[in-house]
Amino acid sequence: MKKIKLGASGPQVSQLALGLMRSSAYEAKEMQALLEKALELGINFVDNADIYGGEHSSEGIYGQVMEQAPQLRDKFVVQTKCGICQGYYDSSYEHIMESVDTSLKRMKLETIDVLLLHRPDALMEPEEIARAFDELTKAGKVKYFGVSNMNPGQIENLKRCVSQDLLVDQMQMSIVHSPMIDAGICVNMTEQGAIMRDGSLLDYAQVHGITIQPWSIVQASWAQGSFLDHPDYEALNQVLQRLSEKYNITKAAVAVAWLLRHPANLQPITGTTNPEHLAELARAFDIRLTRPEWYELYLSAGKKLP
Ligand SMILES: NC(=O)c1ccc[n+]([C@@H]2O[C@H](COP(=O)([O-])OP(=O)(O)OC[C@H]3O[C@@H](n4cnc5c(N)ncnc54)[C@H](OP(=O)(O)O)[C@@H]3O)[C@@H](O)[C@H]2O)c1
Repeated sequence: MKKIKLGASGPQVSQLALGLMRSSAYEAKEMQALLEKALELGINFVDNADIYGGEHSSEGIYGQVMEQAPQLRDKFVVQTKCGICQGYYDSSYEHIMESVDTSLKRMKLETIDVLLLHRPDALMEPEEIARAFDELTKAGKVKYFGVSNMNPGQIENLKRCVSQDLLVDQMQMSIVHSPMIDAGICVNMTEQGAIMRDGSLLDYAQVHGITIQPWSIVQASWAQGSFLDHPDYEALNQVLQRLSEKYNITKAAVAVAWLLRHPANLQPITGTTNPEHLAELARAFDIRLTRPEWYELYLSAGKKLP
């Protein structure tokens, strides 16, 4: 498994990360097997959030695994997120501090390796966030910080006050959900794809050494579910199938290879809960798509070149 440096000043981590959002549908024993498979594959980075799973909390399940299998403790770089509440977003000092304490308790950890602000909060006050980040750093509760679903302007606004490096921006991104790529390709054009929705985040991240973590890498949308074998994405599935045969990896792994081919050194977060799927996805690192293949996949998902 390839390792990358997280952001400009973070730890070395596996380039494929394991997201635990869907783990709340499982028991701790099953999640232990998934985490053990991850380690076997060289995946040492997990992504969680305070809100994942609701009552059957994903952080709580992670904590149960750490209790029943203490040998897994210290093996993972653990990232979690805060700031989404029922019906509103909250990046206040009080909420961040309280959420971190709850996350530490649930995951049975003394330190969170990476804490992300989950979504832009319209009422975000960078001074308050900076105070929370400073206190969390001083108390040894959080080592590194980042954001999720934020554009460059929001990151710059935070950087005015926050003294720690922001290492990560976690964003929805896949062959099907690719507005960050579309707008870059269609600069100054009038078609739908030209609409800049992210403030040129991929370029900004490369300039500033921020790791973009794509989420929902095989999902078309919440409503449609995975684009793999989905009838609405027949042309895409045909190309995925042909390339999967050429490279002897699964279609899902080809979809990951498509992300890895981007020069921004993206760190895709898979949400699989199936150890076999995880092993298949890791084989994405065995191949490098050619430029014509990369563009063919993109176009087969219904995108256009100017
Ligand atoms: N920052 C944010 O706002 C945000 C939002 C959403 C998610 N996330 C993070 O991103 C992670 C991934 O999100 P996601 O779960 O939506 O992404 P995903 O990896 O695109 O979706 C995983 C889903 O696809 C299914 N799938 C079907 N065939 C598969 C195959 N061959 N290989 C892999 N998966 C296959 C999985 O089922 P199986 O389990 O059966 O494989 C699972 O239900 C989450 O766990 C979370 O950490 C972040």
